[in-house]
Amino acid sequence: MTHLQDIMPGCQKRVEQAIDHWIPSINRYPQNLHEAMRYSALGGGKRVRPLLVYATGMATGQPLERLDGVACAIELIHAYSLIHDDLPCMDDDDLRRGRPSCHKKFGEALAVLAGDALQTLAFHVLGHDDEITPDPAIRLEMIGILSQAAGSRGMAGGQAVDLAATGKTLSIAELEAMHIHKTGALIHAAVAMAVRNAENLDEEQGRALEHYAKCLGLAFQIRDDILDIIGDTNVIGKQSGADQQLNKPTFPELLGLQASKERARQLHAEALDCLAGFDDNADVLRDIADYIVDRIS
Ligand code: IPE
Ligand code: IPE
Ligand code: MG
Ligand code: MG
Ligand code: MG
Repeated sequence: MTHLQDIMPGCQKRVEQAIDHWIPSINRYPQNLHEAMRYSALGGGKRVRPLLVYATGMATGQPLERLDGVACAIELIHAYSLIHDDLPCMDDDDLRRGRPSCHKKFGEALAVLAGDALQTLAFHVLGHDDEITPDPAIRLEMIGILSQAAGSRGMAGGQAVDLAATGKTLSIAELEAMHIHKTGALIHAAVAMAVRNAENLDEEQGRALEHYAKCLGLAFQIRDDILDIIGDTNVIGKQSGADQQLNKPTFPELLGLQASKERARQLHAEALDCLAGFDDNADVLRDIADYIVDRIS
């Protein structure tokens, strides 16, 4: 039986090597842009979305080399989303992963461009990493999943709702919909891409894995909202209390801390139920579910 703690450092290293490989070196023109891209994509982070890619691969019997490009692509999109999320015109956060956020270090204009370039690089990787699959149809499906999840019907759309909702009171259904888009979409895409790359996986199992990811995507943002209140700035690596200061609609703000934790627990239980039909090759996915709702950073 393999568990998350056994594979976490190795998988983080795998994806970091892939990111290092695909982002041009800081000696390449234009140096400052590559430096900003590297600063944000390689400077820490839990690598939860890549871990989900690899763990889904383990649950479905795939060699990890086939998933490095997929893990890299989702993390590049995530890194871009964080750069833009921190900009003064969005959440105006100065601290990210325990360091100055990209625009504090490189200026706003270069931060915008670093985000843009990380995003397009993600699709380049999915299109060009030879290891992923020899089947162009599967590759195209993965590009479709990631583009949908990153765009107006996914993360970017959720971020637009988040900005429009700042200072307003949302219903629980509206808040859940916002979280499902801004954060859930990429977490779902991580699992969905690895599902598409699996050979001989029956449809029902694929659907169960995707439902697992949907539960965890929402739980992940609920925990993020909780950590903004109970987390320590030094541990979470970003300014705590930032949501309250900006009057962001969040789970704890709407439901209180206890009910928010309970909602995360329910989603955790539902995620584990989805894995009932899987053997112990899905243990890492089970551990990731525990990790997401209990994490302190
Ligand atoms: C933070 O994501 C932004 C959200 C979508 C909640 P993570 O908590 O995964 O951030 P890193 O990558 O570990 O820094
Ligand atoms: C971020 O949500 C979602 C993204 C798409 C980046 P938050 O704004 O709550 O993320 P943090 O707390 O700044 O990491
Ligand atoms: Mg935000
Ligand atoms: Mg933010
Ligand atoms: Mg947050």
